Amino acid sequence: MDKRPIGIFDSGLGGLSAVRAALKYLPNEDIIYFGDTGRVPYGTRSEKIITQYANEDIAFLEKFGCKLIMAACGTVSSVARDAISKVKEPFVGVVEPAAKAAVKATKNGKIGVMGTSATINSGAFTKTINRINPDIEVSGVSCPLLVPLVENNWIDEDNQIALEMIRRYIKPLMDNGVDTIILGCTHFPHLAPVIARIAGDDVTLIDTGYEAVMQAKTILDENNLSNDKTHQGKAEYYITDETQNFSQIANTLLGTDISDCASFIDLNIFEHGLNE
Ligand code: DGL
Repeated sequence: MDKRPIGIFDSGLGGLSAVRAALKYLPNEDIIYFGDTGRVPYGTRSEKIITQYANEDIAFLEKFGCKLIMAACGTVSSVARDAISKVKEPFVGVVEPAAKAAVKATKNGKIGVMGTSATINSGAFTKTINRINPDIEVSGVSCPLLVPLVENNWIDEDNQIALEMIRRYIKPLMDNGVDTIILGCTHFPHLAPVIARIAGDDVTLIDTGYEAVMQAKTILDENNLSNDKTHQGKAEYYITDETQNFSQIANTLLGTDISDCASFIDLNIFEHGLNE
């Protein structure tokens, strides 16, 4: 049994798709969520900057003595290999668990990946899928404009702008006949009902946040790191910009009121303060 919290981070609100799954499937675990809302988006930036941000995000979570760190961010998981390789705690990214789930789900051997530009350009999902099964055909599309849609809560199933953007973005995947689409950016599971409307019932959508949480659960169980089964897990949320509506949007995405547990954090002051 291990009482330490698990740390989950993303560039913004996207990683709440992992928190949503963690609240459901890891109910005894305490969670520290870090959303870098002051620097979102990551997915249009260079490897150097994404790696620098990832190092800082991980260092923030490590100060809480987390027993497991999760990059609930497709961009960090795909691009910031150097930062990830230095994590001392058990680490979970989204690429491997989502790739495995997609390989399991596909029937026709054609998988699509929706991600940020950095994620798609890295080819991380394609390489991971083809390592598991070289015969699978993988096609990827960069969907950078879907990130601000989620950050602004434009995610309702009837949102015409979201529907049109998704229709255009996934056309190449549909033309390729994919039967499985990895929502390779953790912002996108929040748009799953809209994506499902365009992709249709025959296409399986893989929720990266959920898959990452399932892998975390396995790691905790197998290494005797789970918390006491009688403990009611709590979550704390830290963001780097006080967007007025963070709590409001987070409440919608999580289906629970988090306003009392969300705080603004200045990474520089936090670092400085703790070192003094
Ligand atoms: N949620 C992130 C991802 O999974 C990043 C979106 C962004 O910051 O561009 O890739």
